[in-house]
Amino acid sequence: MTKWIKDGKIVDPVTERVEQLDIIVEGERISKILPCGIFTSDSGEVEVIDAAGKLVVPGFIDMHTHLREPGYEYKETIASGSLAAAAGGFTAIACMPNTDPPNDSRSVTEFIVEQAERANLVRVYPIAAISVGQKGERLTEFGDLKEAGAVGLSDDGRPVVNSELMRRAMEYARFHGLTVISHCEDLYLSEGGVMHEGEVSTKIGLPGIPGASEEIMVYREICLARHTGCPVHIAHVSTAESVALIRRAKEAGLPVTAETAPHYFTLDHRAVMGYDTNAKVNPPLRSEKDVEAVKQGLKDGTIDVIATDHAPHSPLEKEVEFDRASPGMIGLETAFSLTLALVKEGVLTLPEAIKKLSLIPSRILGVTGGSIEEGGRADLTLVDDKAKYVLTENEILSKSKNTPFIGKELCGRAVLTMVGGRVVWQRTR
Ligand code: DOR
Repeated sequence: MTKWIKDGKIVDPVTERVEQLDIIVEGERISKILPCGIFTSDSGEVEVIDAAGKLVVPGFIDMHTHLREPGYEYKETIASGSLAAAAGGFTAIACMPNTDPPNDSRSVTEFIVEQAERANLVRVYPIAAISVGQKGERLTEFGDLKEAGAVGLSDDGRPVVNSELMRRAMEYARFHGLTVISHCEDLYLSEGGVMHEGEVSTKIGLPGIPGASEEIMVYREICLARHTGCPVHIAHVSTAESVALIRRAKEAGLPVTAETAPHYFTLDHRAVMGYDTNAKVNPPLRSEKDVEAVKQGLKDGTIDVIATDHAPHSPLEKEVEFDRASPGMIGLETAFSLTLALVKEGVLTLPEAIKKLSLIPSRILGVTGGSIEEGGRADLTLVDDKAKYVLTENEILSKSKNTPFIGKELCGRAVLTMVGGRVVWQRTR
């Protein structure tokens, strides 16, 4: 049936325009984009979706999600993560390989694709491991993994310690047209650390992880991108010096892109003062100065993408002593609100923010989406940018509830998510 998305304010990240328009969807595609008041519904069966007062944006694309299937289904499944994604306004997510077994083979990649089809909610793109077992010893079969559906390569959760292996990974990845995503961490510097090394860690007596642990590896990846010509994408950027290194690499014309996650521009290391294990993430929440630099990096385009690093963990891993807790927080259902706060603060314009949540990740991964155009796939999200709410555990659709934002007042949330012309999720309250 034809769908008429009526009277919405369309945010187009390609033209960076915000305009009130009607969108007509036939089957899985957008057939027309029209000024309001032209289309009439007497031409057959039409389902009207009232978008008055709402923003219509390209469905968000998260290039950094942890779905815990196979292996840790008690934390998240491909189906539960897909539902959380849809509720957060995401129409596509790329999932990291640190499952059990890790996604280092054709069979695991195919399993993910099949489970995602079964869930039938959002598009799920597997990111396969760079090394077998994520052990950093032998490369996986990139060609096989790509054929099975992988869109990128990463050992995320762990760095690739061996620079020679990373060099070869980048050479082969370039040949196969796969994006390499790097988790930058010097394990010798981070060993034993559980939070950012700085005045807060000293005050509360927890062992720290210095910013240099990330920066050394960011610099190595930049060197390897120069050496191999292979594009490299830096995951979860958290420090001022990482931002500066990436800025310089871009100025030199190197094929380097970067993402940060909403918690790195919303929270700083002081969030750990009450020993809240939900504020334990890797890399850790950094200093106020780092947070400001991350915002500046987003503003000037050094940081291309906002990705969630959605990392579900159960009370088994979180309701323990701080140093024993697993790092990670969920993020699919709060990413838009936290990004909108940056728009309100004047760091990004609305189209810039939407672009970092949709168009740019689609380009980096080489997948469809990120635009609103006639003939394009109808992967769209309606958001209410005025909706104020207090986040409660009850409404979180992810299987895990590990977020420090519970009880906080947030603003702006998805109200309807459409994938390929099909409404896969709609807010009922
Ligand atoms: O905080 C994190 N959690 N950082 C990572 O790199 C991995 C992730 C996870 O898988 O839980």
